Amino acid sequence: MKYDFDKVINRIGTNTAKWDEVEMKFGTKDVLPMWVADMDFRIAQPIIDALKERAEHGIFGYTKMSDSYKEAVCSWMEKRHEWKIEKDWVIHSPGVVPALSIIVKEFTKPGDKIIIQTPVYYPFFDVVRDNNRELICNSVKFENEKYVMDYEDLESKIDENVKMMILCSPHNPIGRVWSKEELVKLGEICMKHNIMVVSDEIHADLVYKGHKHIPFASISEEFAQNSITCFAPSKTFNIAGLQSALLSIPNKEYYDKFSLALGALDIRRDNCFGAVATETAYTEGEEWLEQLLDYLEGNLEFLTEYCEERIPKIKVNKTEGTYLVWLDCHELGMSKEELGDFMIKEAKVALDHGYWFGPEGEGFARINIACPRATLEEGLKRIENAVNRL
Ligand SMILES: Cc1ncc(COP(=O)(O)O)c(C=O)c1O
Repeated sequence: MKYDFDKVINRIGTNTAKWDEVEMKFGTKDVLPMWVADMDFRIAQPIIDALKERAEHGIFGYTKMSDSYKEAVCSWMEKRHEWKIEKDWVIHSPGVVPALSIIVKEFTKPGDKIIIQTPVYYPFFDVVRDNNRELICNSVKFENEKYVMDYEDLESKIDENVKMMILCSPHNPIGRVWSKEELVKLGEICMKHNIMVVSDEIHADLVYKGHKHIPFASISEEFAQNSITCFAPSKTFNIAGLQSALLSIPNKEYYDKFSLALGALDIRRDNCFGAVATETAYTEGEEWLEQLLDYLEGNLEFLTEYCEERIPKIKVNKTEGTYLVWLDCHELGMSKEELGDFMIKEAKVALDHGYWFGPEGEGFARINIACPRATLEEGLKRIENAVNRL
């Protein structure tokens, strides 16, 4: 089946965060939403069909995580990422961020230090700080036109109170798909200092040609035993509203601890639609995903060429994975507040402000390119016209 990603679908009025929360978030309705990470595309037909069939049954009681569901998850992981996982490592969570928060609570104590690599997806800051743990920021470096990990800075910040690292892989917002060598070096430093690695791999399936996602825990048994991996069909298949995420926890002690914490909150079960969508996505969604990746790659090229030719003051970061692209707007010469105001009030586009991702993000904006090309073009025209008016 050929999917039409060019089709513009009106999402206003569906209570969708991206379109219906803009006024609350940006102070005006009069902006084109290109912020929060979901896509303006209709999802894979087999998932829609399976949800319809489930809805037609008419009874939506408590849901069991079936064997076939776990098999679908394991097969996907092996097929797409060459990581053989066992069914009894797999556990459900109502989201990756809630899982991160539970992990922080269960595996560290108040006052312990947790490392994140900034600029990074901003809820990482909250899950550390709101749980009264100390946040340690290990900034990434920009070297030879590419963001890389700063291991020296990392080692200099490690002391006996550092207990955990939350890794973003692939990394939002800098779009890096970490290489095996980079992950090995990071993992070895963490092993040496007894730092548990929590690897958020929610963007794992959204990787462009020439790059390969390596699950951190797939690298070695040592790394697998020292880590928890979070992933989900939500970004890949555009089903974030179904609140279904997954974890793979090969370390039995860690698994039991996490499972007990979910049990205490009584959130071990998936919701019945989330379960159906997840299983169907992982068994029948690949054709859609392949077409999506081609389309997104086209959007990334379009964005890059558009900025080079028509908005040269905005530099598009080389993005290896995710549909979230980091725009360097320093040449516009604005403070972080001025840049935010400029995008909202002058260009009338709602982008994620760079500084939300940490102080390293000042002077940047993050654009979500998971929309029909016509929408992307409209957003870029708005920015171009506003820059020309400066
Ligand atoms: C790195 C990362 N982790 C987690 C999430 C959200 O996960 P969830 O909605 O499952 O909590 C996002 C969403 O943008 C993300 O970029």
